[in-house]
Amino acid sequence: MTQPVRPSVAIYPGSFDPITRGHEDIVRRTLIFCDRVIVAVGHRATQAKQGLFTIDERVELIKAVFEDEDRVDVAAFSGLLVDFARERNVGLIVRGLRAVSDFEYEFQMALMNRDLHPGIETLFLAPDARYSYLSASLVREITSLGGDMSHFVSPVVQRKLLSKLQST
Ligand code: PNS
Repeated sequence: MTQPVRPSVAIYPGSFDPITRGHEDIVRRTLIFCDRVIVAVGHRATQAKQGLFTIDERVELIKAVFEDEDRVDVAAFSGLLVDFARERNVGLIVRGLRAVSDFEYEFQMALMNRDLHPGIETLFLAPDARYSYLSASLVREITSLGGDMSHFVSPVVQRKLLSKLQST
C-alpha cells in the first residue's frame, strides 16, 4: 500500500534585517523538500539594539521578495520560537550554516529549542558558496558607507536600504 504524501512545513526563523540573497537561497532550498516555508521574523533575545528596519518593515520586504512564491508565508513573532512553532503546529526549524563559526551558536540554539520542546528538530542547510561570507550586518554597514551590495540583496531590498540609510 502506498503511503499518502504528507504536506510538510518548515519554519525558517531569523532577524532578517534585512533579508539577503543568502536567506532567499535557504528558503528556496527548503522548498525542494518542504511544501511550505514560514519565514518567521523574531527578535534575538540578547539583542540590545533595535536594528535598522522595524519588524513590520522586515516582514514587508520578505513578502515583496517572495511575492511570486505562494509556498512562502511570512510572519513576525515575539517570545520563544518554540512557542511560535507549537502555535503553528510545525515541528521543523530550518537554519542556514555558512561556516564553522556559525556552528557553536546554532548548535546551542538547536539543542536548547529541543530541550524546550522535545518534538522540534532543527535542520541545517548550507547556502550557495557565493553567500557563505554574507551577512545582513555587513550589508547594512557596507551600504551605509557607500559600498555596492546590490548583488547580495534583491532590488526591492536595495532600494529600501538606500532610502532608509538616507533618512537616518
Ligand atoms: O538571524 P538571527 O539573528 O541569528 O536569528 C536569531 C533568532 C531570531 C532565530 C533567535 O534569536 C530566536 O529564535 N529568537 C526568539 C527567542 C527564542 O526562542 N530564544 C531562544 C532560542 S534557543
